[in-house]
Amino acid sequence: MSDWGGGYVTDVGYVAGYHPEQAPGHLALAALISGVACEIIERPEELSYLELGAGLGFGTTLLAASNPSWRVTAIDFNPEHVAAARAFAAEAGVGNVTFLEADLATLSDQPMAALVPEADVASLHGLWSWVSEETRAGILKLLGAKVRAGGLVHVSYNALPAWQGALGLQRVVREAGRRLAGRSDRQAAAGIGVARALVAAGARHLAADPFVKQLLERLSGAAPGYLAHEFMNAAWKPVFHVDVATGMAEAKFSWVGSARLYENFPDLMMNEAERAEAARFDDPLLFELIKDISGGPALRHDIYVRGARRLGENERNRTLSGVMLTLTTRPSRFAYEFEVPAGKANLHRGFYEPAVEALAATPQTVGALLARPGIEPGHANPPELAAMLVGSGQAMVVLRPAAGPLPALDRFHAAAARLAGRFDKLDRPIALASHRLGGGLVVPALELMILSRLVTEGAAEPALWARLIAPGLEAEQAEGLGKEIARILDERTQIWRLAGVV
Ligand SMILES: C[S@@+](CC[C@H](N)C(=O)[O-])C[C@H]1O[C@@H](n2cnc3c(N)ncnc32)[C@H](O)[C@@H]1O
Repeated sequence: MSDWGGGYVTDVGYVAGYHPEQAPGHLALAALISGVACEIIERPEELSYLELGAGLGFGTTLLAASNPSWRVTAIDFNPEHVAAARAFAAEAGVGNVTFLEADLATLSDQPMAALVPEADVASLHGLWSWVSEETRAGILKLLGAKVRAGGLVHVSYNALPAWQGALGLQRVVREAGRRLAGRSDRQAAAGIGVARALVAAGARHLAADPFVKQLLERLSGAAPGYLAHEFMNAAWKPVFHVDVATGMAEAKFSWVGSARLYENFPDLMMNEAERAEAARFDDPLLFELIKDISGGPALRHDIYVRGARRLGENERNRTLSGVMLTLTTRPSRFAYEFEVPAGKANLHRGFYEPAVEALAATPQTVGALLARPGIEPGHANPPELAAMLVGSGQAMVVLRPAAGPLPALDRFHAAAARLAGRFDKLDRPIALASHRLGGGLVVPALELMILSRLVTEGAAEPALWARLIAPGLEAEQAEGLGKEIARILDERTQIWRLAGVV
């Protein structure tokens, strides 16, 4: 393997994906919930978005396609990724995204840095804890130079201490894998095989750790490219939130909160005794450390701002009341109970059921949902309502309530459906693009293929589509797929309408 990657995997490409935490509208909602002013939702048209380590560029291209007035820039040092991203954007007819091939370790000192515009929002997903110290320093320098005052940065990373029990797992996967296979995806698969054998043999530091067990279960269906980029990088290193925040502070960024919205609510993250310990400190970084030790996430999605404008509670609530939300799941499938680190979050049915019913008919502002007649006081306030609906993955922010479907997105969806057609599984997650949402709606690959056929062909033909989507299936399996397509059309069309996709 050549070494221009400085130990980062370069022989196998990454997988195409969309991560809603990276969307500016979502980040703006998270900032508001944490009491930091951000006008993206009120004025969504003028925005410069920057993604570092953009991989195949699916998410960046989707954001550009959904927001034609935005200027979108994406950087990656792997020419295979950049070439694929440019080809996809051209096929999808998206002109407001630029892909730059550059090494983030040194970019800020190169003449090419002049091509990176000032950014209102920057995002780095899956980069920070996978790259070297030198690259992290380069990233901080670039962010410091390019993110405007008031701008937001989203950074995700493998967090400590959640990963502490799995340090040995990653090491054995990488070390054993490198000795057993050539290409890094095969190395990851071989290394995971060794780790599983060690778990079966009772190796104490793997077998006894619940996080390792959970991780190995989750990895069984994972795409080979994902496994290579997760486990095979030389500099892979989970980090503490406080260390990321200290580095970001040197570049003048202050920590705002989590893009996983319910993580901003201590009651859902810690038990009473843990909260009491955390409450002894008014330093938010120490509070966060105690939260992470008490059961914080393995993958953190943090938001930083360069120059925070803190809002008073009334102003925050007033602004949040004007935010429009749409439902992303059918009411009959809405989960009123979901797992959180402190146990189970239970959404009070007396309050949330009518809210979900209202949302099933049309998008609603947070204020309108709270002002509905018969609402018992004390069950929710603007931040809690928005965080529970959106944070549970069952609603999304609507950036342009009045916007209808954008005809140009038909071409994006056709290109995305061709891309998804090359996936190894029809249930791999991907996303639909929406001008109304200003971002993507995460769906299985099959749903994207169906939507794309529906907008181009007009009438639905589930049995025929099943044969076209999966030509090699036996008659019985094709019949099953046809039924699944009919179910998706029945259950999801209203969600697509609400999201302004159709
Ligand atoms: C795990 S992937 C994540 C891709 C994308 N953000 C996503 O979530 O789909 C990390 C990406 O960072 C890129 N990368 C790693 N080191 C880099 C560097 N020094 N400069 C630029 N890009 C880098 C890799 O090529 C890869 O595409």
